[in-house]
Amino acid sequence: MKLPDKVKIVEVGPRDGLQNEITSITTEIKVELIERLANAGVKFIEAAAFVSPRWVPKMADSGEVMNRVNRQSNVVYSALTPNLKGFYAALEAKVDEVAIFAAASETFSERNINCSIDESLQRFNQVTEAAKRARLPVRGYISCVLGCPYEGPISVDAVVSVARSLEQIGCHEISLGDTIGTGTPAEAQSLIKGVSKVIPIERIAVHFHDTYGQALANILASMEIGVSVIDSSISGLGGCPYAKGASGNVASEDVLYMLHGLGIQTGIDLNVMIETASFISKTLGRSSDSKVTRAKIEA
Ligand code: HMG
Ligand code: MG
Repeated sequence: MKLPDKVKIVEVGPRDGLQNEITSITTEIKVELIERLANAGVKFIEAAAFVSPRWVPKMADSGEVMNRVNRQSNVVYSALTPNLKGFYAALEAKVDEVAIFAAASETFSERNINCSIDESLQRFNQVTEAAKRARLPVRGYISCVLGCPYEGPISVDAVVSVARSLEQIGCHEISLGDTIGTGTPAEAQSLIKGVSKVIPIERIAVHFHDTYGQALANILASMEIGVSVIDSSISGLGGCPYAKGASGNVASEDVLYMLHGLGIQTGIDLNVMIETASFISKTLGRSSDSKVTRAKIEA
C-alpha cells in the first residue's frame, strides 16, 4: 500500500462546522477558534462564508470574523463565495482564497444555491474571472458526489462533468464532497479514478461527512490511489443546512491520529487540536464528535 508522505489538511470547522450549529455562537468565539487552529499548526483554514444571511444566518458575521482574526502570515484563510456579491465582500475582508461550491445533483443545487448546475457555473465563472483580476486562488467544491439527499445515487459521469467545468474556469483544487456521508471506500475510489482523468490527482481533495461512519475508511482508500488533500472539521462539527440528516465532517483529530499513526506528516499538533476541540465543544455545550478527543479528554 503506497501512501503519501505528507498530506495537506484543509480545516473546515469554522465554516462547514459552525454554519449548521443550533447554538448561537459569538464572533469572539469564532475568532478564538480560528486562532487556536492556526496555533495548532493548521495552514489552511476555511474561516467564513460570504453567503446570504437569510440562507445561512450563522455565517452573517463573516466579514467581522475575518477582520478580527489575528492572522498568521503562513496560514491561508479562505471563505465560500457563491456569487460576485459574496466575492467582493470576501475581497474586502482580505481573504487569501475563495471557494465556489457547485453540486453534482440538480435538486441539491436548487435547494442550496437556488439555481441549476449550469446557472451556477455561469455565476462561478464570473467569480473566477474577478478572482483572477484580484490574484486570488479559487477552490471548487462539488457536493453530493456519492449520493444526494433528494435524488439518491449520483453517477461518476455527473461529477466528472462538473469537475471538468470547474477546472476549465480556473479552480486550482477541486474538493469532492460526500455531503450526506453515504459513500463507501470502493465507491470513493472509482469516483476519484474517474475525476482524475480530467484533473491531476494532486489537485483533488476529499471532503467526507461521517454520517454513516465511513469517513476514515474512505480517506484511507482515497490516499491509496494518490489523494493527498483532506478536508476535516475540528471536533467533527458540521453539516449542511440544505442536506437534511447530514452529520458533521470527519473529525480533524481522528484524521490526524490515523495519519500520524501511518507516519504521514501534517505539520499539525494533535494535542493542541484536542484542546481546541474540547474548547469548542464545551462552548457549544455538548460532547465532541471526535472519538480521539473523547478518548483523551472526556473519557
Ligand atoms: P437568492 O435568494 O437566489 O439570491 O440566493 P438573489 O441573488 O436573488 O438575492 C436575494 C437577496 O440575497 C438579495 O438581498 C441579495 O443582496 C442577497 P435583498 O435585496 O433581498 O435584501 N444576497 C447576498 N447577501 C449576502 N451575500 C451574498 C449574497 N448574494 C445575494 N453572497 C444565494 C442565492 C446563492 C445567495 C443563496 O442561495 C445562498 O447564499 N446560498 C448559500 C447556501 C450555503 O451557504 N450552503 C452551505 C454551504 S455548501 C456546503 O456546506 C457543502 C460543502 O461543505 C461541500 C459538501 O459537504 O458537499 C461546501
Ligand atoms: Mg461539507
